[in-house]
Amino acid sequence: MHTRRTTLSKFLIEQLKNSPDGQALAALLVDVSAAIKAISAAAGKGALEGNVGSLETVNVQEEVQKPLDVLTNQIMLHHCDWGGLVAGMASEEMEKPYDIPNEYARGCHLLIFDPLDGSSNIDFNVAVGTIFSVLKHNKDTPPTEADYLQPGNRQVAAGYAIYGPATLLVLTVGQGTHGFTLDREVGNFVLTHPNLRIPEETDQFAINASNERFWEPPIQRYVEECRAGKTGPRERDFNMRWIASMVADVHRILLRGGVFTYPRDSKSSKSGRLRLLYEASPMAMLVEQAGGAASTGRGRLLDEPPQALHQRVPVVLGSKSEVERIERYHREFDAGTDKPFVSPLFNERSLFRKEAR
Ligand code: AHG
Ligand code: MN
Ligand code: MN
Repeated sequence: MHTRRTTLSKFLIEQLKNSPDGQALAALLVDVSAAIKAISAAAGKGALEGNVGSLETVNVQEEVQKPLDVLTNQIMLHHCDWGGLVAGMASEEMEKPYDIPNEYARGCHLLIFDPLDGSSNIDFNVAVGTIFSVLKHNKDTPPTEADYLQPGNRQVAAGYAIYGPATLLVLTVGQGTHGFTLDREVGNFVLTHPNLRIPEETDQFAINASNERFWEPPIQRYVEECRAGKTGPRERDFNMRWIASMVADVHRILLRGGVFTYPRDSKSSKSGRLRLLYEASPMAMLVEQAGGAASTGRGRLLDEPPQALHQRVPVVLGSKSEVERIERYHREFDAGTDKPFVSPLFNERSLFRKEAR
């Protein structure tokens, strides 16, 4: 029998035993993991519990909410507000931060989360997830909205859960990125993926290619070069993936390598789609802790100063050399020295001829 397996609690106690406020952080992450077990069970019920379809409500991003968006938000709040471990919480599904009810003590951390990532996939039984970020806060003062606007480099923990055929919790407390698989019979998260390292050699990229006409030239250049494969400057073939659940795309990158991008575009806001505080920053910390890189295309994502709770930001993350290449394409474009690659598919006589850039 597996009597020596490392459970999440044992792992956290060991990793955090010498950190200031380490015990409080370990206890908070155990509460978060309890919420994740409850979400895993709720997501697993699917249509049996009416957890599919849409509601008539919209969230602050003007996205139509799903029943599970609302339920998972409540699960996170109610598992984490009572224990004196957080000073406040903020979420994709709430316009303003959540204040801890008066009957409960305030703790020294702020918890920010996307309770259900990839929720458009829920009706089709494709993997979804939960993303979270933990910041420090002085527990003597109730937090204001401004207290949540800390750059990602100040996170003391970050992680996500992925609800697929198995439920995994992947987290970092600043000492590597580690994956735990939920043993459903026992009810424990067990360390199954210690010290994840993003493979450097990669032949995969992930992007929503339907937005191509809205991208900036450096991203168009990168994708066009990948698509040209052996016949282009990269001299090897690439594969493309897009699951439309950031957790699932990032999980694959942690295990297989590659690059994931939701870049700046001219579609709606120029900042792309993903939200800085509860999607981009925690994923950036996990990726860096696994030896990869995370960028806006023009700078380190973890150094990006937040201006607003629900601010969006361009995201490029994954294998270091690919992220650095995309940053270089941005620099060359901004300096006017870039040399866009024009595929033979788009030559003068082709149906697909491109406008000169
Ligand atoms: P959410 O379900 O929390 O709103 O997030 C969805 C995000 C992210 O998970 C995914 O990568 C991206 O939106 C998908 O965007 P497209 O619909 O443009 O593909
Ligand atoms: Mn999301
Ligand atoms: Mn969401």
